[in-house]
Amino acid sequence: MRIAVVYGGDKSAEGAVINQTINTRTWKSYQAVAEDISESLKRLGGQQVHLLAEDMSLARKLSDLGIDLVWLNTGGVQGYNPMSHASAMLEMVGIPYVGHDPLTASTLDNKHSFKRDLLALGLPTPLFMSWHPGRSDAAAHETRRFKSIFGDYGGPFVVKPVSGRASQHVHVVDEPEDLKATIDEVYDVTHNHVLIEKFMSGREFCIAVCGHVIAKQGQLERCDSPFVFGAVERVLEPDEMIFTSMDVRPITVDRIRALDPVEDAVVARQLEDLATEVFAELGLETLVRLDVRSDEDGKMYVLEANPKPDLKAPKGEKTSLVCASLANYGMSYDDLILSLLADRIDLLFSQRRGAVAHLASLLK
Ligand SMILES: Nc1ncnc2c1ncn2[C@@H]1O[C@H](COP(=O)(O)OP(=O)(O)OP(=O)(O)O)[C@@H](O)[C@H]1O
Ligand SMILES: [Mg+2]
Repeated sequence: MRIAVVYGGDKSAEGAVINQTINTRTWKSYQAVAEDISESLKRLGGQQVHLLAEDMSLARKLSDLGIDLVWLNTGGVQGYNPMSHASAMLEMVGIPYVGHDPLTASTLDNKHSFKRDLLALGLPTPLFMSWHPGRSDAAAHETRRFKSIFGDYGGPFVVKPVSGRASQHVHVVDEPEDLKATIDEVYDVTHNHVLIEKFMSGREFCIAVCGHVIAKQGQLERCDSPFVFGAVERVLEPDEMIFTSMDVRPITVDRIRALDPVEDAVVARQLEDLATEVFAELGLETLVRLDVRSDEDGKMYVLEANPKPDLKAPKGEKTSLVCASLANYGMSYDDLILSLLADRIDLLFSQRRGAVAHLASLLK
């Protein structure tokens, strides 16, 4: 099987796009992590693993190289809903991939859409409203909608892009009257809807969840429920209201704390249940990392589900939230990569038989 690991192409590179437009989601290539994934696939036995940038030449390159399966490690190149562009193109050209389908990728990467789904499903997420300054001159906090959502709550609020990453352009605003200036500032950078949320002042956690097929020490097994793992607390400094971006300060082992099996047993159970429910109720099909924060009473609320969590291979002090505690599950980084690959192959052959005639022909 020829595999391509795809990272985000640079719109300013020659031949990448026809016209350069805007980035509604701050751009990053994710190339280094794509290299980690590709090295892992090679260690797992992949003999033909290619690294390719997502851009307008991608379909041609996939065809020229005879690629059978793509691993998506990209947040897109530019434009609106960039997280879904590569999967949409792969659906069109008929190449299976490890990654979310276009609708799921877009829903997860648009926090207001995702949160509407959570609300409809009765899953906890902080009170919120989305606002688009390009479509109204009014101030969000003066609207009837704002009052019906937030009632007597007078702040603090979090203002952030609906499609963001690495805590960029995430602001805490104390008073309703100060919301407009911050909303306009976020809109100026993202040209997109802006999210206003109730500030949750409690502890912050992350937890990862993926499909039913997992590998431990190279041995595959199929579990009855999605595999939930990697529950950690994001340790906030006393004066830190929101977790500082990994682009500003690397995520080192002292900034994330694995949950203690005894002391944090209740919290860990709540997180696992939440992750399982989100995965099942939203019909997810591959890895997400939930970011969860609790209120002053310890009740947990889902901030977001990251559709392409960082899969940096742990090295020295630097690690990624998802991979930090793999050893606790008897898994290595390569086991996680094999799990995600095997789970996708399993899903393709069990639920998408019509879409994998080409892969099936490789077995002959
Ligand atoms: N409603 C909220 N209440 C309290 N803190 C919040 C809230 N929303 C966001 N934060 C803080 O801001 C950080 C970034 O927010 P969020 O996870 O929604 O955006 P992101 O930029 O996509 O994050 P990531 O770094 O996970 O890619 C969170 O980790 C949390 O510390
Ligand atoms: Mg987050």
